[in-house]
Amino acid sequence: RRAVRVAIDGPAGAGKSTVARRLAERLGYLLLDTGALYRTVALAAVREKLRWDEAEALGALAEDLVTRRRMVIERVEGATGGGSGMRVVLDGEDVSAAIRAPEVSLGASRVSAVPAVRAALLDMQRGQGAVGGVVLEGRDIGTVVFPDAEVKFFLTASPEVRARRRYEELVAQGKDATYEATFNDVERRDKADTERPVAPLRQAEDAIVVDSSHRDVAELVEEMALVVEARE
Ligand code: C5P
Repeated sequence: RRAVRVAIDGPAGAGKSTVARRLAERLGYLLLDTGALYRTVALAAVREKLRWDEAEALGALAEDLVTRRRMVIERVEGATGGGSGMRVVLDGEDVSAAIRAPEVSLGASRVSAVPAVRAALLDMQRGQGAVGGVVLEGRDIGTVVFPDAEVKFFLTASPEVRARRRYEELVAQGKDATYEATFNDVERRDKADTERPVAPLRQAEDAIVVDSSHRDVAELVEEMALVVEARE
């Protein structure tokens, strides 16, 4: 058996993080959350007081973060039970929590539309995934980062279900949210992610489409694990 690369792409709120984490756990693989990298660039941009329309400066910032190793991925053993996870460190600080702020989420969507930002993060993602035995979660893993990944899933769910999940998450975090605002947020991010000229969110031709709308997560993950194991 060989350890393979598993790409999981899909829109925000499809359950990618949960499914990717549990799949990595089940397989004993490393989990790489590529959205965290875009989020970290956005956080650095906030801290350096850049505006979201300053494409050139955002590109230069991303390049600087990568080449000067201001942004690094640290592997966390046992972070996902059977597998290992990652933590992003920015200028020596663990920013795992800071990159989840709503302002950073919107910023991540903006910086991810800048070609120079995507280019700066590409090698970093490829380097991490090169050895196999990894589940990569993102938007363009199966289409751009690893078009030759051994297994590609496109995980999706209806906009209503995705907004509902996101809303419940925010409420659980004690955030002051409404379902309507969350639904609008989901639609806005979908639109931005699918319509951008650079690496738009789309499913790879050879991706297996998985709809998580009315599925039990454990069952779904088991089904996906069996697909991966058949290709190991
Ligand atoms: O998945 P997550 O919500 O953490 O991603 C944050 C943002 O980063 C998304 O809105 C998306 O636009 C962008 N992203 C991307 N390509 C990836 C992963 C994330 O453009 N591979």
